[in-house]
This record gives sequence, C-alpha cells and structure tokens, in this order.
Amino acid sequence: MNGRITFEPDHKSVSVSPGTTVLTAAGKARVLIRSRCGGNASCLMCKVTAEQPAGLSPISANERHKLGPLADQGIRLACQARVIGEATVVVPEDPLRAAVRAQLAKQQEEDLW
Ligand code: FES
Repeated sequence: MNGRITFEPDHKSVSVSPGTTVLTAAGKARVLIRSRCGGNASCLMCKVTAEQPAGLSPISANERHKLGPLADQGIRLACQARVIGEATVVVPEDPLRAAVRAQLAKQQEEDLW
C-alpha cells in the first residue's frame, strides 16, 4: 500500500512508496521546500507543520534534538519525516516570495493615493 501526502496551502497530493521522505515527496509533487544540506538534518531549512501526523514516521531522537521545542508544536523536518500512510503537511511560504508579495502590496497601496 502506497503512502499519500498532501501539501498545503497548494493542495497538492502525491502517492509515494512508504518510507519516502517528505522532502522527496515534495519534489515529486513539485512543491518547493527549501533545503541546503542535502537532507542531512543540519540546515534546518526544511521545516514543515504536520497537520495529519499519523501518516508520518515517528519523530526520531535526532530530529527532536535538532528541532528543540518546535518538535512539540507539530513541526517536522521534511528530510527526516517519512510518509507511512495518509499525511498532510503545511509548507511555509518562501521568505523571498513573501517579501516580494509584501512589497507589491505596499506599492499597490501607495498607488491608490
Ligand atoms: S534539508 Fe537540511 S535539515 Fe532538512
């Protein structure tokens, strides 16, 4: 039986083999999750929020250590969490995209005056 993961807020779902990392599944779904360490749990850029955590592998001691208090708030590292069933995660907006969007909104607001 395949695993299935949905990425919010894009509402993109993909079926993957059980044990596939969330980061790899995101690539398959064409969802951008930032990463810099190649999945070695060292850059901590791949944080996602687990909305449906039962479909993900249990958090490892190493991942918990890396995340600290965030681990208790449903945050997972996409490169460490593996899809084992039906899962949903929320991917934070890319900071560059958020900055551009905020700047465009500000400019649009100024153009109204
Ligand atoms: S990809 Fe670097 S910590 Fe996950």
